[in-house]
Amino acid sequence: MVDYEAGHCPSGRLVSWEPETKAPVKPDLPASIGVVEDPVEGCSGPLWVRGAIPVRSADGQEYELRRRVTLCRCGASRNKPFCDGTHAAIGFQDGTDLDHPPRHAGH
Ligand code: FES
Repeated sequence: MVDYEAGHCPSGRLVSWEPETKAPVKPDLPASIGVVEDPVEGCSGPLWVRGAIPVRSADGQEYELRRRVTLCRCGASRNKPFCDGTHAAIGFQDGTDLDHPPRHAGH
């Protein structure tokens, strides 16, 4: 249960550890980018970047390569380019209708 919860943390802040080796459990996620919507909080969230996709700043700075990170898309994070959760405090809305989400091409 703990591994499941930690493995589904979009930002990777929650980490579980192998009891014997003390090494972090790293979920094997395919390279992909998703948009986070939070219907419980009633707000839109960050971009969820999975699978160790490199993240680089506009001035070329490379960030630590991680298997999952969340990138701010509300513009209010104090830790850009990363999401710091401020989207929930400001009630960020991206205009997506959660009751009628857009259909994906090919579906
Ligand atoms: S999307 Fe989370 S702080 Fe901007």
